[in-house]
Amino acid sequence: MSAPAPARKFKNPRAKHGFQGRTCSIIGVGSYLPERIVTNADLALMVDTSDEWIISRTGIKERRLAAKDQYTSDLGAAAAKRALENAGILAEEIDLIIVATITPDMPFPSTACLVQQKIGARKAAAFDIEAACSGFIFGLEIGQQFIMSRTYNTVLVIGAEKLSTIIDWKDRNTCVLFGDGAGAAILQHRPDAHGLLTACMGSDGNKADLLSMPGGGSKCPATMESVHAKLHYLRMDGKETFKNAVNAMYVAAEEALRRCELEIGQIKCVIPHQANRRIIDAVADRLGVTEQQLFVNLHRYGNTSAASVAIALDEAVQEKRIERGDLVLLVVFGAGLTWGAAVIEW
Ligand code: UT7
Repeated sequence: MSAPAPARKFKNPRAKHGFQGRTCSIIGVGSYLPERIVTNADLALMVDTSDEWIISRTGIKERRLAAKDQYTSDLGAAAAKRALENAGILAEEIDLIIVATITPDMPFPSTACLVQQKIGARKAAAFDIEAACSGFIFGLEIGQQFIMSRTYNTVLVIGAEKLSTIIDWKDRNTCVLFGDGAGAAILQHRPDAHGLLTACMGSDGNKADLLSMPGGGSKCPATMESVHAKLHYLRMDGKETFKNAVNAMYVAAEEALRRCELEIGQIKCVIPHQANRRIIDAVADRLGVTEQQLFVNLHRYGNTSAASVAIALDEAVQEKRIERGDLVLLVVFGAGLTWGAAVIEW
């Protein structure tokens, strides 16, 4: 007989919502990064920038770029296959696929449907969500709701981006910041009580203009003019986005901790959205997060938007920075504006 689980020193906010006896465990994670590495020195050959500027202002040293014939659904499918392998389940067992992305293969059908076909998840329903860099946490929360309500038993959540296709490679303000990649997590009800404890989400459409891609939608369909005006590239007011990111990530993390009656010192690993080392440090400083708690990999991948914390979560598990029973805090921020945080008992 196995030993009884030790008493918890924190609250599971799901219990009070009538979800007693139901948990949403993350039973497997996986990630995929394209092979091609583009260093800061490579970018300095393309735009007026330097390794020194990029590292000191962002912390990024290199990023990965997908091949021409490798699309967001390919990156997502590769990450999903690794998550399935780590979870020890088959694609046929998946009930629902949620893909968070701002760079779908095409406006429709959804990238989630294309991933479904690529991994052979025959019985799954599939759809995309769009919450920019916050998409993975929004996806976890949506997936969790389906599991808690007993609608589905197994949900695959993917954050996947081919941002290199919406970057203006002549704009030094943005082209040094982003990269391609994907991360995935498989959610399932498991009778033992480990899993996602809470996830909070927030949005502020009043600040939609700070970070956007104006072209390609119903407001501004593709025309010769829109292409010449570079409306199909990502645009960002870096300074304002920075300030909003620090504040929103701090508020979201505090809210998630408060819901679980947790102190930051009880968290083993804090995984923030990997956009800028200075944003991460400012948020960590306000929350009282130590260097030992913090997981950072943006020096290798840059900002991969919806894939960012999904990739980092997988790497933290692989590197044994997170082990069974540890408490993990994810915190994100992105265009919309959107933000969120999640607490996981691993
Ligand atoms: O994932 C979603 C959220 N995204 C973010 O959170 C990103 C938020 N913003 C940031 O990370 C930072 O604002 C940036 C990294 C984008 C910019 O850093 P900054 O310290 O805010 O720099 P800045 O925009 O104030 O630019 C300072 C100077 C400017 O020159 P002038 O006008 O002072 O002469 C820029 O033109 O740095 C210049 N600059 C560069 N110089 C060399 C901007 N980009 C570059 C570059 N290389 N790549």
